[in-house]
Amino acid sequence: MCGIVGYAGIGDALKIVIEALKRLEYRGYDSAGIAIRSDRGLKIVKSVGEIGNLENRVRGMSIKGATGIAHTRWATHGIPSEVNAHPHPDCRKKIALVHNGIIENYRTLRKELLSRGHEFRSETDTEVVVHLVEERYYPLRKKGIEDALFVAVREVIPLLEGSYALVVVAEDEDYLVGVREKSPLVIGIGSGENFLASDVSPLLKYTSEVVYLDDGECARLDRKSFRIVDKEGNTVQPGIHQVDWSPKDAEKGGYEHFMLKEINEQAGSLHDTFVGMTGENFTLSPMLKTLVPYLKSIEIIGCGTSYNAGMVGKYFIESLTRIPVGLCYASEYRYSSPAEHTPLIIAISQSGETADTLAAMREARRRGSVTIAITNVVGSTITREADFTLYTRAGPEIGVAATKTFTAQIMVLDMLGLRLFEAKKGDPAQLGRLEGSLRGVPRLVQKVLENQERIKEVSRFLSKAHTIFFIGRNINYPTAVEGALKLKEISYIHAEAYPAGELKHGPLALLSPETPVVAVAASDHVREKLYSNVGEVCAREAPVVIVAEEGDETAWNYTDDVLTFPACSPELSPIPASVVLQLLAYYAAKERGCAIDKPRNLAKSVTVE
Ligand code: M6R
Repeated sequence: MCGIVGYAGIGDALKIVIEALKRLEYRGYDSAGIAIRSDRGLKIVKSVGEIGNLENRVRGMSIKGATGIAHTRWATHGIPSEVNAHPHPDCRKKIALVHNGIIENYRTLRKELLSRGHEFRSETDTEVVVHLVEERYYPLRKKGIEDALFVAVREVIPLLEGSYALVVVAEDEDYLVGVREKSPLVIGIGSGENFLASDVSPLLKYTSEVVYLDDGECARLDRKSFRIVDKEGNTVQPGIHQVDWSPKDAEKGGYEHFMLKEINEQAGSLHDTFVGMTGENFTLSPMLKTLVPYLKSIEIIGCGTSYNAGMVGKYFIESLTRIPVGLCYASEYRYSSPAEHTPLIIAISQSGETADTLAAMREARRRGSVTIAITNVVGSTITREADFTLYTRAGPEIGVAATKTFTAQIMVLDMLGLRLFEAKKGDPAQLGRLEGSLRGVPRLVQKVLENQERIKEVSRFLSKAHTIFFIGRNINYPTAVEGALKLKEISYIHAEAYPAGELKHGPLALLSPETPVVAVAASDHVREKLYSNVGEVCAREAPVVIVAEEGDETAWNYTDDVLTFPACSPELSPIPASVVLQLLAYYAAKERGCAIDKPRNLAKSVTVE
């Protein structure tokens, strides 16, 4: 989605906002722009495509100033073009504004503004806001009202419907104004300089102290200080968070792609996440401990990869605790009419900002459920709205394709399952065995990571396919689903996942020597059934790749393309098996020359419905 950066300091604003903008590239964008309060007035430059194009445009221009804003746009209203790119100026070009989100009532506002003589240059929903601000700002300034821009923006907020993070700059004001409603906006506190951004990654280089704005809050920020007010105009005491990610964590560190780096970091991220869920670092709250023995059901919600992690969690928690676990896409949950109340909802979101997941969680709370959020981002919106938060400790994930956060989410769900089992007075021996096995998972993953050559070879032949099926059974059905998602989003090869037993109920009709099938096998109670299904595939002469445990000789009866992961408890196999599939997707996409970290049409954090 779109990215925002704002800077007020003493440095070269142009250089700083462009540098910071590059750290938001991972969110996905189609155009970019800057507005700097320069010694020659407010200077706005925009361009379509890569930030490099914007850099080329500003090269040679003398834009000197210490306050500025910048934006990467991901088109929603109007095609990717220079006029539609942000920042948007007002009629006099003395105010400029950037926006993430959607102004839902923009059509009505635009009509009214046009009738009052405003000149519109773009097709965007955003532009109405800057004209609304100008209608208030100039009269306030003329009257000599202090902080006229800050006041004007706050007067506009009640007129807007939808979701927005806005940052505004004006030629005659030496500060920025930022406001948030259902779209994240973070203040970075520097020394002699302050920042605004849509997430923390562009700020890591400058500061580790951040303040997350809440819905309805508006901030005035100059180089020395910042002030936040709520909807009613009351000053808000800022909650300052320390971000423990280092700027290096958000760099490629010698890898060709963030995705490859993040796949390779998984032994560490899984270890950190495991430790975060053990001993003194984690105890089930007294409220949950009381709730669990009587818990009739749990529901897991999330989108995309987070949903897939939830599916692994469903199989794990249900079989261990015998508590029925439902699973629902967040975008579906919010509009559903469940017949029964679900007492406990687990909402999973790597970013903690996904609009569908947040809306679903709000709906769950409205229905009276207790909510647990699982997220990777400290201070993100989901953490402020859920009753409890469990963190994956994966470090920043920059590649659009979720990898290390997926396996970390499974680790958190598995560990949560153990704690629920404990609260239900489950067998301590089984508990100890499973916890010991989970502690060993990072080692299993490390072994997969040390043997990438064979995966690379197999990916070469898969990269030529037009359609690939992924199959698995039981707890490795979600592994297959996530494998298919990874492949399709970064390689653009059509991929579909099925529970292996379902093939004969329809999809077999599509199999031929041109449609490879990737099967995931663990040493569990459905292994033989899975191999029967693989036999059905071979009978249709479809090429088969089997992801199986080391030492599983049966796999070789069906194919020479066997990719292995170390032997482990079957209920934990989705983690190492998924790492194999992540690498398979990565190398297939690389073979096809795809833009792996920034797949077309996709964004890292989907903050609109
Ligand atoms: O930040 P979230 O976990 O809420 O994001 C949910 C999905 O948008 C996300 O998992 C998406 O499916 C990934 N790009 C897949 O790799």
